[in-house]
Amino acid sequence: MKTSISPNFENALADFIQRYPEYQTTNKIDELRKSDYSRLAEHVYLDYTGGGLYGDCQLKQHHQLLRDGVFGNPHSSNPSSSAMTKLVDETREFVLDYFNAGDDYTVIFTPNASGALKLIGESYPFNDDSHYLLAFDNHNSVLGIREFARAKSAQIEYVPLELPNLNLNYSYLENALKSSDKTNKLFSYPAQSNFSGVKHELSWVKKATKLGWDVLLDVAAYVPTNPLDLKEIQPSFAVMSFYKIFGYPTGLGALIAKKEALAKLKRPWFAGGTISLASVQGDSHFLDEGCAAFEDGTINYLNIPAIKIGLEHIQSIGLDNIKVRLNALTDYLLKSLLELKHSNQEPLLKIYGPETIENRGSTVTLNFYDANKNLINHHIIEQEANKAMISLRTGCFCNPGTGESAFGITQQELTSCFAEAETRLTIDDLQLCIDGKNSGAVRISLGLVSNFSDVEQFIEFAKGFLS
Ligand SMILES: Cc1ncc(COP(=O)(O)O)c(C=O)c1O
Repeated sequence: MKTSISPNFENALADFIQRYPEYQTTNKIDELRKSDYSRLAEHVYLDYTGGGLYGDCQLKQHHQLLRDGVFGNPHSSNPSSSAMTKLVDETREFVLDYFNAGDDYTVIFTPNASGALKLIGESYPFNDDSHYLLAFDNHNSVLGIREFARAKSAQIEYVPLELPNLNLNYSYLENALKSSDKTNKLFSYPAQSNFSGVKHELSWVKKATKLGWDVLLDVAAYVPTNPLDLKEIQPSFAVMSFYKIFGYPTGLGALIAKKEALAKLKRPWFAGGTISLASVQGDSHFLDEGCAAFEDGTINYLNIPAIKIGLEHIQSIGLDNIKVRLNALTDYLLKSLLELKHSNQEPLLKIYGPETIENRGSTVTLNFYDANKNLINHHIIEQEANKAMISLRTGCFCNPGTGESAFGITQQELTSCFAEAETRLTIDDLQLCIDGKNSGAVRISLGLVSNFSDVEQFIEFAKGFLS
């Protein structure tokens, strides 16, 4: 099934512009797409939550910088090293400014958001008097922190989601935050869900902090399309991957930590670059101060300056412009998809999470159904999308808790599947184990240079499944 722009594309575009006149104020992004993203050509890229896309200008600037300088491993006084140290320091400052972090925060460069999360997990002072409270709606890399907590006998508790909107159950959350009598308390949740696109209320950061919790805010899916003001929100820790914001380079993320929260973390080991002194015969070491104690070995130094280039690229486009555009496209996408009905009036699609643009980003997750209400397996949708040069993502997006909530999979079903498993289970095995109930979905995510044509081509693609 190959989709193409429908013969009515021009009419559809005119109609769209009439409904969303503000879209035209973002024409600058169409120009940018022509100049810097021309390689997209026939490709319909709908996987921005998986990874952002870089512009040609970022590559040119970064490569020019590398061509013009002699850069060595930082943290030495030799000229090539100090040139590099200067760029790394500048980038650190730039990141702090970009997120309006002020002096209370420090930036630790990591390989990705997961690397930042692991630093917290392995270093947080979990013990039998601590509490790890986390949302069902979390990426696996946040869920994985529970294994550090479990190993230290900490209490682990999940905040459930409410159906159908997949918001956090805020009354449960309030009660859990207020009733804990533990000493070291860590609460983790995402600013925006990578599964449903739901934006969770950021005011819970301050509420939890007032009640004595450290708050880990996963902003990986939020910051590509939303401004984050750390002075205003004040999480103890914020984690992100830079490729999700501006595509290039991969291999870099950050833990932006409040200095006082960072002081609470106890690193379980030391490495090159993290100590002020270590001794073999003295059998001891002193960890370095602040961020240095958390950046193991040689940092990804040649790529770090590309973070500043990438963030400047976003600033030159303007997050406000991106938001106006994506809100219009997402609203149109949601409304158009919800209208799709088979000839017997059965809906083609089920959308998980909010069906309107309110409190959501531009990540839309759904499943396809035939006219007899039978689920069309997400693998089939992906295969057909691949043929049509549409890049979307299927499965549970490393966010099993939201999938379990959205698909109505119960704890009992899961416990018995895990207990009966003789070999390693996959998401497809799980589907068999829960009697063919749904265990995966299709995710479309819009971003930086998405345009009307991308959205319209997906809608046309979806129509191909109507009967
Ligand atoms: C919300 C969220 N958190 C964390 C991650 C982990 O990011 P990475 O795989 O870059 O470490 C992702 C990745 O998709 C994500 O969407």
